[in-house]
Amino acid sequence: MNKSDNLMYREAADYLASRIPGNPETVIILGSGLGSLADQIELATVIPYAEIPHFMHSTATGHKGNLIYGKLGGKEVLAMQGRFHYYEGYTMQQVTFPVRVMKLLGIQNLLVSNAAGGINPSFKVGDLMIIRDHINMMPNPLIGPNNELFGTRFPDMTRAYDRELIRLAEEIATSLNIPLKKGVYVGLTGPSFETPAEYAFYGRVGGDAIGMSTVPEVIVARHAGLRVFGMSVITNEGYHFADDFVNDGADVIVAADRAATVMTTLFRELIARI
Ligand code: HPA
Repeated sequence: MNKSDNLMYREAADYLASRIPGNPETVIILGSGLGSLADQIELATVIPYAEIPHFMHSTATGHKGNLIYGKLGGKEVLAMQGRFHYYEGYTMQQVTFPVRVMKLLGIQNLLVSNAAGGINPSFKVGDLMIIRDHINMMPNPLIGPNNELFGTRFPDMTRAYDRELIRLAEEIATSLNIPLKKGVYVGLTGPSFETPAEYAFYGRVGGDAIGMSTVPEVIVARHAGLRVFGMSVITNEGYHFADDFVNDGADVIVAADRAATVMTTLFRELIARI
């Protein structure tokens, strides 16, 4: 049923296995403006997405379109510098394609990052938030015949974000004096930003931060049994609006870029300990 999809995952994974001189267990997906983490990867092999069979191209601003192999925190890692969003016009299968390729490559841990709007009024621009749970407002990427190669029809999402990885990240943050928030990420399609009424609505139903990515990859990763850790960088505040306020994608990238250094430190130390 999923034969041609599985062939595509396999071809991409086989190609990457031929280009990667090792066996990384962790992949990091870098969100908008957070691609600079990749500069910290030692002995890097850079593989442009365009060279990987069946990979999509990255069109979103702040997303470069490279898969990078190398060492971070003394461990082998892969980093996706640029991800695919539903709002770019990709199908959910295309958005999550790399996650299944990673699974076939032997990856066990997914570290995922994003830029997000803060809807918890205690969150400020530049804050880092550990994602402890999510609310999915996008189409579910697992809709359609279940792909038995990867997982079960009705995958559990009770602990989508790994408790042990959250505990470790909090321990590291405390020891390095890095202030962290923790909360619920609301994933929606975009590409329009939310109205003030929508920000307020998602805050009332339990969201702390809001963005246009991450949830599809996390659902497909959990379906395939990967361990997931997620972090949002708060790039704008969706709870009070000055009369002349305008939500601007360029400001989001600038704010994410500033926070990238701290997030990189945290990810490096986390990787060193998993
Ligand atoms: N809303 C949705 N996505 C986002 C936001 C936001 O406010 N900020 C960064 N990504």
